[in-house]
Formats: sequence, C-alpha cells, structure tokens
Amino acid sequence: MSVDERKTVGETASSLRPFFHPDTVAVVGASRDATKIGSRLLDEMIRTDFQGEIYPVNPNATEIQGLKTYPSVRDIPNGVDLAVIAVPREAVPGVVDDCAARGVRALIVITAGFAETNPEGKTLQQQLADKVRGYGMRMIGPNCMGLLNTDPSVRLNASFSPVFPPRGPLAMSSQSGALGLAILALAAKRGLGLSTFVSVGNKADVSGNDLIEYWESDPATKVILLYLESFGNPRRFAQIARRVGQEKPIVAVKGGRSLAGRRAAGSHTAALAASDVAVDALFRQTGVIRAEALDELFDIAVALSSQPLIQGRRIGIVTNAGGPGILCADACAAAGLTVPEVPEETQKALRGFLPAAASISNPIDMVASAGPGSYTQTIATLLSCNEIDALIVLYIPLDREGSLPFATAIQEGVARGRAEGGRGKPVLACVMSEGDTQALLALPEETIPAYAFPETPARVLGKCATYSEWKSSPPGVVSTSVSAGVQSARRVVDRFIAQTGSGWLPAADVETILEAFGVPMPPRGIAATSAEAVALSERIGFPVALKLVSTRILHKSEVGGVQLNLPDADAVEAAFARIQSELSSRNQLESMDGVLVQKMISGGVELMAGVAADPVFGSLIAFGLGGIHVEILGDVQFRIAPLTDKDVREMVRSIRGFKLLEGYRGHAPADLSAIEDVLLRVSRMVELLPEISELDLNPLVALPPGQGCFVLDARVHLIAPGKPQSV
Ligand code: COA
Repeated sequence: MSVDERKTVGETASSLRPFFHPDTVAVVGASRDATKIGSRLLDEMIRTDFQGEIYPVNPNATEIQGLKTYPSVRDIPNGVDLAVIAVPREAVPGVVDDCAARGVRALIVITAGFAETNPEGKTLQQQLADKVRGYGMRMIGPNCMGLLNTDPSVRLNASFSPVFPPRGPLAMSSQSGALGLAILALAAKRGLGLSTFVSVGNKADVSGNDLIEYWESDPATKVILLYLESFGNPRRFAQIARRVGQEKPIVAVKGGRSLAGRRAAGSHTAALAASDVAVDALFRQTGVIRAEALDELFDIAVALSSQPLIQGRRIGIVTNAGGPGILCADACAAAGLTVPEVPEETQKALRGFLPAAASISNPIDMVASAGPGSYTQTIATLLSCNEIDALIVLYIPLDREGSLPFATAIQEGVARGRAEGGRGKPVLACVMSEGDTQALLALPEETIPAYAFPETPARVLGKCATYSEWKSSPPGVVSTSVSAGVQSARRVVDRFIAQTGSGWLPAADVETILEAFGVPMPPRGIAATSAEAVALSERIGFPVALKLVSTRILHKSEVGGVQLNLPDADAVEAAFARIQSELSSRNQLESMDGVLVQKMISGGVELMAGVAADPVFGSLIAFGLGGIHVEILGDVQFRIAPLTDKDVREMVRSIRGFKLLEGYRGHAPADLSAIEDVLLRVSRMVELLPEISELDLNPLVALPPGQGCFVLDARVHLIAPGKPQSV
C-alpha cells in the first residue's frame, strides 16, 4: 500500500469509529408510541444493554422508557458521538443541523423516502449528503436498518433488530434492510458470531467499500460478509477487495442475478445493476468468494471462521454409510477437488483397526457398525496423512440418543490428528440428522462446522480452495508500458470520431490500431504490381493470400478481391491477374491501390478474444475457443480490464477447452504465452482507448509453442465520448 493509500484508509477507518464505538448515542425521533420505529430503536438499545449513555430526542416528551428526553439534539448537555435518526423525511435536514451544532460526527438515518422512491427523493438525498459532507460528518443510510456492535464493552444495537447475535469474528454489511433482519435471525439460529453488522441502505455517504476498509483494521473481524445489490464504484471495490482479501477473506452474495432480480434491485435501490458476468469476473479477479445464496454465505462463513484455510485440493472423506460418501465424493469432483486413494501405508494402518467390510481407499466407509472409536482412529490417521489437505467427516446417526459419544470421538480424532501433523488442515462435518447439528460439534476445544447434507462441505471447501490459491499466488501486475506507436492509434480514433462519430472502424484503421499495440497479425506487406507481390510472397513464405487494397471498394470479396492459399509464385501472378481482370470487367480498375500480401496461417487452434463495454464495470474482456465453439458452446471467460499477468494466465486456463491448448490426442499444443500476450495488449488498448466499445479478434489462431498467435480478422467499434454505451 502506498503512503497516500494508507493515509486514506486510516482516515476512512477513523471517521467510521464513532459509529461502532460511541460513548453517547442520541435516538432522534424516539417515539412515545411503542409500535413506532423510533420507539423500537430505543427499546432495542436499552434491552441490549448499551454500555454508554442514551439520549432520546423528542420535542413532545420529557421522558421515554424511563430516560430523560430532550426536545432537540442541541439541548443535550453532554457531547454526542452518534445520532440515530428516525424522524419523518422533511424533518431530517433540521435534525442534521442540530447534530452539527452539537458536534456529532456520525449519523445513522433510518428514515426512508429518498433515492429509492422517485426523482424528488433522489434530489433530497443528494442535498442531505451534501449537507452531511459540508459539516464534515459521516452518514450511514438513509433508508437503512442501522448497525450493531457485539463488543462486550460496547453492546450497541442501533437498529430495530430484535435479535442481537452472539460475539464472533464475522462482520457483515447488507444492502437490504429488511433482509438484514432475516440475516441476523438466521445467523443467530446457526450460532454464528458477529463482530459488527451494518445495514447500508442507500449508501449516500458511507459505502460498502468504506466499511471493508474499516473492517480491514478492526481486530475483532476475521471474515467479511457482504450482501450486495449494486456496486457504487467497482474500481475502488476491486482495489480494496484485492488488498483486504490478502488478510481477511471476503464472501459475497450478489442479488440481482436474474433479469427479474435486476429489475427488482433497480427499483429497490435505484442503482445501476451490473451484468452478472461482470460481477463474476470482478469477484474472481479480486479473490472475493462468491456464495450462490445466503445459506451458502453462512456455510462458507462458518468454515472460514472456525477452521484453518485449506492449502490444497485433496480431500479425505470418512463416513459410516456408503451413499452419503458417494454424494460427497461427487460433489468434491464437481467443486474441482480430488478424493485421492490414500497411500498404502495409511491403508495398512486403517486395515489394522477397521472391520473387514470397511472400504479403506477413500472415501473411507467404516460401515454402519463403526463405533465412536473407529471415528477417532480413522480421523486421526487421515488428518496426519501427508496426501490429504482437508477432511470431511460424515456421520449418519443410527439413533439420536447415541450421538454424543460420536461427537466427542470425532473431536478426539481431530485433536489427535492435529497433534500428529494435521494442524493446518480444515475438518468439516456433515451430520445427517434433524435438530441442531451445529451444536453437536461445537465442542469446547474446536468448533467443527457440521452441515446437514454431504455435498455442502465439499462445495464450501471448493470455494475456499479457490480463495486460498488466489491468496497464495503473487498479486498480478498490470503493464503500464506504452509503445511508441500508440500515438498513431490515438490519431486514428480522434479522426474517426471527429469525422464519423460512433461506428465500426474501416479495416485499415483497425490494422493501424492493432499494429500500434503490437497485436500480432500474420506477416504481410503491400504490393503495387504483380512482380512486387511475387517478391513479397517469396520473402514472407508460401502459401500466401492476396487481398485487394482500395479505399473506394469496401467489400473486397464481392469483387473477387480476396485470393487465398496461393502455394507459389505462379499462383500469386495468376491471382493478381484475376483481381485486375475482375475489376476491369466492372470498370473499377482505377480503384485498385495495390494488394495486401498476407501469409496464410494454417493449423493451430482457433480462438477468439473480444471486448464489450459494461456501463458499470467498464471494459469486459472475453477469451474463448473460436469458430463454432464460441457460438454453440459459449466456452468464453470474461475479466474486467485492466488485466494483470495473473488474470490472463488464469483466464486462458479457465476455459473448458483448455485441454485443446495443452495438446490433445495428437494435436500440437498452443503457444500459451503468445495468447496471454495478446490479451494483455488488448487490455492495454482499451485502457488507453476507452472509446473502444466493442472489439472482436476472431479468429485468433494460436500456433504451437514458440510460433505465436495471430489475429486473422478483427473489428473495432468506437463510441464518441458522452454517447450511450450501446452498439
Ligand atoms: N426531532 C425529534 N423528534 C421528532 C422530530 C424532530 N425533529 N420530528 C418528529 N419527532 C418525533 C415525533 O414526535 C414522533 O414521536 P411521538 O410518536 O412520540 O410523537 C416520532 O418522532 C416519530 O415521528 P412520526 O411523525 O410519528 O413518524 P413515524 O414514526 O410515523 O415515521 C419514520 C418516522 C422514520 C419511521 C418514517 O418516516 C420512515 O421513514 N419509515 C420507514 C423506515 C424504513 O423502513 N427504513 C428502512 C429500513 S430498512
């Protein structure tokens, strides 16, 4: 982190501290009516046993719920660190003035009716945010549910949530207030401990990004959970998430995946909903773990907060029933994990104490008769086995009464396995029974997350493994080198926009741009005569293609202007003559400026690369198999520009057809570093030429290693600045 960055992070964190550690809180709009939100806020704060002073504010009361009540924040004799505001919308600006006069630094505005409603509400929100900033205050909301801090020296419930979760290492922000209530209830039900919880509402001032920066420096927070509906500033999110994720995992659920969901998110928050592809790309590039649903968010959270981070992909499965073992092994494979056969010496050890009917390769099926002792020994043996990175323990209770000895046995096995070398390995369990499975394994020494279905721990470990790999690989680098030719590309773009505005660039301009950024095209040159074409072909090497060069004729193939696969000098001469005679028969010979002689590229793997502009995320870069594959199989990976070297490596290896690029069944492998180089150049191109709204390099042909990767056909669409980003 640079000095400037550190300073801003420090400033953000300290400006948010009064929200989480206030000594004095004013509840403005504390109502005498117990059913009103203001009254519920006060009630929860008292009930939760807030460790500081509470000042209810209401002009029409002198005492509420046994507390002295002030007509205005200005009348509170002591300093106020935090004001929670639940007055009608029209009264909010006046309350903010009162707070400023009293030196309040932090405001939570519960009141709704702002940007989430209509343009008038949006204007009011802007005015509110300007006022708050003008006073140098910070504000959470408006239209939010408030926040909680479970620190025993604080115990702040500045929300109307009736649930105050147990203390723990998870921090969470939610963009939906009502869902926040449900989240808190769900978390409490699963016994998940939270450090802090914030309902961010309309994010007029304090953003989700600010909170991540706060939690970065909050010692009580180990894992950050986000429920997101929109991104205010994806670039800043990317920057912060990349940095914070190195220390503390970030797990996110993004609402608005489906079209209907996006519509709902739009009307809910009036924010721009991003395309899901871009969200996926953003999370992958920044190491954020994406949970598919709230349930999964908690499944992952509990594993990350109670177990070591997985350091590989090899899973050992212990079970007392075959079926769940199979389901779990299948789910491991689907999650990109392996369930390797354990080494002979481990099998030998297992054979020493397991019944003859047990299956000892992996999954280790101890069969239904396995007693607690078998669990202890098997777990200890597998956990200390070097060929295993994590353990999934499946337990199907035969009778509910007898489960406790198994829970103890599992824990003993884990403790022994840890002592014998399995310290850094996560252990997750599945207890297929009704009731509170979580409690079963929450034993004093170590909490082993217990899930209800055998597939869940597999999915959780798969996602954690991806995060772990992201975390342990060196951070990627974005190249900032500028080649000398870039000025010529800038001139092409400026001229086209001045003359034409938005549109597809002519082929010659496309070539200039690709050349300026060093995107490789097959060896080629322009020849004015047949003799020159032959000489050029001999220099380039046969076979070649001849393509008509003309500023007046746009569709060259329609006039016979494209002649392919010319194997020798005679064929080149004949092709040149054919182009000439075709043109003269149309009385267009004078339109011929010459021919482009281009080396024919044959063999190799057909790929595609492209760019599409996303209104929220900027340029999305696509890469995949070309030709029919892209259309039929949709085997394409997307990432957000700018791409790092790590991004392109990962992108190329993530397509389903990667095997083809490694060489498959007699096909030569492809020049991977040349492909990665093209993608980096495309990224640089769209960074420096943001007017590019669409680009297709298709086909892009990758030859065997050392022989390069060439663009055979390209299109570029520009959008004049200030125009809508659609093509
Ligand atoms: N300073 C202090 N107190 C004030 C005040 C002011 N300037 N103006 C009004 N009040 C008091 C009122 O006297 C009243 O107390 P009383 O009932 O004892 O008379 C109390 O504040 C509430 O005012 P009221 O007019 O009754 O408003 P309300 O409770 O019906 O609505 C909100 C207030 C904030 C709850 C409402 O405007 C709102 O926004 N509701 C939606 C909240 C929401 O959903 N947020 C998002 C959650 S995710």
